[in-house]
Parts: sequence; structure tokens; C-alpha cells
Amino acid sequence: MERRHLAECGSTNTEALQHLREGGGPLLVSASRQTAGRGRLGRAWLTDQAGDDAALTFSVAMTLPADLDLSGLSLAVGCTVADVLDPAAGRIRLKWPNDLFLDGAKLGGILIETVPLPDQRRGVVIGIGINLQPLPTDVDRSTFASGHAALHTLDPAATASTTLDRLAPALRAMLADFETLGFAPWQAAFERRDLTAGQPVRVGEQPGIARGVSPRGELLLETAAGLLTLSGGELSLRLEKSL
Ligand code: BTN
Repeated sequence: MERRHLAECGSTNTEALQHLREGGGPLLVSASRQTAGRGRLGRAWLTDQAGDDAALTFSVAMTLPADLDLSGLSLAVGCTVADVLDPAAGRIRLKWPNDLFLDGAKLGGILIETVPLPDQRRGVVIGIGINLQPLPTDVDRSTFASGHAALHTLDPAATASTTLDRLAPALRAMLADFETLGFAPWQAAFERRDLTAGQPVRVGEQPGIARGVSPRGELLLETAAGLLTLSGGELSLRLEKSL
């Protein structure tokens, strides 16, 4: 897979989507600084307040069959990242559908975007942001609704480039498997790290108890009306009580 590093860009996801629209092949693009990083649900992904390389920000671009079910892809990516950074599964947890938590605060997130392509293919971009260093003391923490955790707490020697070197081969292998097997092989791995399992949560306006995920990566929500099966897309999951 081609690798590119940019000192600065708006968003590595935008760079990767543009690359696919222009007919490009598999690409991993990282940046020391993003000026318009974005997260799910139209939120901004702010890393610039902490300085260059205070976070690892990168995107993987590839094409996949247009009919491949992507509903569990962000969970499989989350499992892969967590298994590389915390193999003992002691401290990194995953919050459906796209958040990485370390010791109860948000360590990183995953943003998957797609672009239609000819010939029954679909362009898929997986954007990953991981906080490496703690926020400087003068930064307004109220903009970080889920808190802010830094990988340095787990691995003080981690840099953007050493972390990317560890993640890239694992993600490549995971994507090859996902293309043929879908999410099912990661269901148990996700459940080992599931932050909200058994907890009272709210998905959009719907309250319930989180009951893990289906073999397709949908959230299972126990409600007064029975067990609901919800897929990622535009849904947000909140714990009723903070951690
Ligand atoms: C989220 O928490 O909602 C997802 C955050 C994803 C952030 C990464 S950083 C690299 C890539 N480029 C972006 O603009 N977003 C993703």
C-alpha cells in the first residue's frame, strides 16, 4: 500500500476520498497537523490545540466490492487498533460504533466515509485519530464531551510514526480478512472490550440496556418493547451515567 505523509492538510479523510475519486489505488495518508479534522455526526475532530504530532491522524483508502456489508467495519478497525496498542485488553475499551476509550476517557475515534465508483466497487476511507499527548493545561476541556485520554499514559515512548508503523500492517491484514469474512470473526474481540455492555444507555432518544453486538456489528439494545437491533450510521450512543 502506498504511504504518504503530509506536514499539514485539512483532513486526511478528504485527501483519501479525493485520491479514490481520481481513480487511485490503496493509500495510507497521515498528517502532522489537520486544520479541518472531522468526526462522526458532523462534529469537528480537534487536535490542533495540542500541537503538531500530539495526535496520530491518518486515513486508509481502498476499494471494496459495492455490495460488501460495512456495518461492522468501524468495530473491526477499533478491535484491531486496540489489540495492537493494548494486547492484554486491560485498559482500552471500545464504545459502539467508533470510539476508543482509555481508562474511561476518549483516546480516539474512527470515521468511515465512502464514495461510489464504477465496476461494482466502492471507495472506502477509514480515518483514525488517536491522542498521543495530554492536552496542555490551558486548553478548554469542555469541548471534549467524552473526556480526553492520551496514549502516552499507556506507552510514554509512543510517537506518531512508531504508532503508525505498528498499526499499518495489522490494519492491512484485518481489511483483507474483512473483505472475505465480514465482521463476525471480531464479534468476540469487540465484546471483550465493549464499554457499554450491560449498562443503561440512550441511542438517539431511545433508552435501553446495551446488550453487545450482532454478528453484523449492529448494537443490541434491550428496551421495554423488546430487543432492538440498531446499525451505526447516524446514531449516537450515550451512557446514562458518566464513567
Ligand atoms: C470521531 O470520533 O467521531 C471520529 C474521529 C476521526 C478522526 C480522524 S483523524 C484522521 C481522519 N481525518 C479526519 O478528518 N477525521 C479522521
